[in-house]
Amino acid sequence: MMPILIFMNWIPCSVAEFQICETVRYVGAYGILSFAPEDKDIKSRSLGSVLLSRFKDIKSRSLRSVLFSRIIVYPIHESDALLLCFTQQKHLRALYMGICNTNNTLPKSICDLIHLRYLDVSKSTIQKLPEGITSLQNLQTLDLSYCISLIQLPKGMKQMKSLVYLDITGCDALRFMPCGIGQLTCLRKLGLFIVGEEEGHHIGELERLNNLAGNLKITDLDNVQNITDARSANLKSKTALLSLTLSWEKNGPDWMCYKRSPLNNEEEVLGALQPHSNLKKLKLIGYCGSKFPSNWMMNLNLMLPNLVEMNITGCPNCEQLPPFGKLQLLKSLKLERMDGVKCIDSHVYGDGQNPFPSLEKLRIHGMERLEQWAACRFPRLQELEVIGCLLLTEIPVIPSIKKLHIGKVNASLLTSVNNFTSITSLCINDVANVMELPEGFLQNHPLLEDLTIYGLRDLQSLANKVLDNLSALRRLSCLQIEDSVFRRKCDI
Ligand SMILES: *[C@@H]1O[C@H](CO)[C@@H](O)[C@H](O)[C@H]1NC(C)=O
Ligand SMILES: *[C@@H]1O[C@H](CO)[C@@H](O)[C@H](O)[C@H]1NC(C)=O
Ligand SMILES: *[C@@H]1O[C@H](CO)[C@@H](O)[C@H](O)[C@H]1NC(C)=O
Ligand SMILES: *[C@@H]1O[C@H](CO)[C@@H](O)[C@H](O)[C@H]1NC(C)=O
Ligand SMILES: *[C@@H]1O[C@H](CO)[C@@H](O)[C@H](O)[C@H]1NC(C)=O
Ligand SMILES: *[C@@H]1O[C@H](CO)[C@@H](O)[C@H](O)[C@H]1NC(C)=O
Repeated sequence: MMPILIFMNWIPCSVAEFQICETVRYVGAYGILSFAPEDKDIKSRSLGSVLLSRFKDIKSRSLRSVLFSRIIVYPIHESDALLLCFTQQKHLRALYMGICNTNNTLPKSICDLIHLRYLDVSKSTIQKLPEGITSLQNLQTLDLSYCISLIQLPKGMKQMKSLVYLDITGCDALRFMPCGIGQLTCLRKLGLFIVGEEEGHHIGELERLNNLAGNLKITDLDNVQNITDARSANLKSKTALLSLTLSWEKNGPDWMCYKRSPLNNEEEVLGALQPHSNLKKLKLIGYCGSKFPSNWMMNLNLMLPNLVEMNITGCPNCEQLPPFGKLQLLKSLKLERMDGVKCIDSHVYGDGQNPFPSLEKLRIHGMERLEQWAACRFPRLQELEVIGCLLLTEIPVIPSIKKLHIGKVNASLLTSVNNFTSITSLCINDVANVMELPEGFLQNHPLLEDLTIYGLRDLQSLANKVLDNLSALRRLSCLQIEDSVFRRKCDI
């Protein structure tokens, strides 16, 4: 018999006949492991229980690798029991249990798997790891990404010197890092760093972690004490980082962003956090400085020439935007809740001939004071969202736009829709004080395929024949519109 056993969406034809070879080394499963069809007494014969009884028979030194990817074992307590059973396999090198488990931790027996090199419990419901896991000196990969309930990492983690991949991306419930994480100098992946107030938790822990690659989110930046401290993060030396999020908010989901009073040194701190020029994606969350630092943010085209994506969210005090238009490779820009910004103009476009040469997606959300938007060509812009900008009354004509979404805006902005004659998709929502749609609305949009309108509560009637000229229309959805004629048309 083969030393490798793989199940895929497995429904055993006869559970009774199913045997596992004593010398099996590698077990893999993928998909749904369901009940055996002929079994009437499901409780006693569920697949989990069958697997369990078979694996229990295997000598505790035989298995080397268990990779259970996206498995659903039902009932859930059986997956706990399976996990427990696998952690009795003393020679296990790799364990991937991408499953739900009810105990919210890993069985203590996992701490005895001294040969374990690879442990992936990503996206599981665990809240804690047993402290003893830090004795696994051969562990190189510990994937905890998107364990959204994980509230604490083991205190002695700095002893796990072999760790290369410690992925805690998306662990939104974590409040602090274990002490001295900066001693894990082999790390190439971390995903998240929460700045703390005490020794061993400062941002300077990042100083020697110069092999960090991929994405990194640094949160709780309000705990950075001074510029020296910020500089010691040494972000400029992290040449393999491709995506960086800098957040002054507490760790948590990105949309959680509260207004707070600015600290006196925020601009200097951000100035000292300049990343390496290889960076492709940058996101700022909750930056309350009144200006962007001149050394790099106002010089992005020279300092971060490779940026393809830039997001700023919750930045209430800056009036002047950086000259994003000069970024030659920028494809996606999102500006959200930047309450100080009044205009998008030549300062943003930069002094170049051809601003925003690569920009494909632009999202402008919740810019409470934005009034003016100067004309600009945006040669490649395809998707535009303007949401929650009540003072803006005109959008410049951008012929390349295919997908337009305007919501929570001043009613006068609807007039601008007439100029976007090449759109294939349009969404309009929550515009107050619109009694009737503007003259000629949607009369010149032969390519429009997809139209969504909702939350136009004041709309009384449709004096003009809005839908008559939309020959390409394929999908229409309208909600909360009082006009009975329109509603009847929308019921298609
Ligand atoms: C789950 O927790 C219960 C009680 O805390 C314990 O008795 C049981 O052994 C645990 N199961 C596993 C698989 O760790
Ligand atoms: C800066 O902050 C660090 C970390 O808190 C501290 O050790 C250091 O003394 C501070 N330096 C100055 C000049 O305040
Ligand atoms: C930036 O915003 C865009 C649009 O909402 C989103 O798709 C992207 O994932 C965001 N980037 C980061 C790093 O959060
Ligand atoms: C919409 O814009 C007009 C013209 O600028 C202005 O008078 C009006 O107050 C704006 N409406 C809202 C709700 O801000
Ligand atoms: C955009 O449309 C409005 C209303 O239809 C019109 O008054 C304006 O001149 C148009 N702008 C351009 C630049 O075509
Ligand atoms: C609607 O389309 C017809 C036929 O293509 C055209 O004659 C008419 O001018 C259009 N209506 C408006 C208001 O543009």
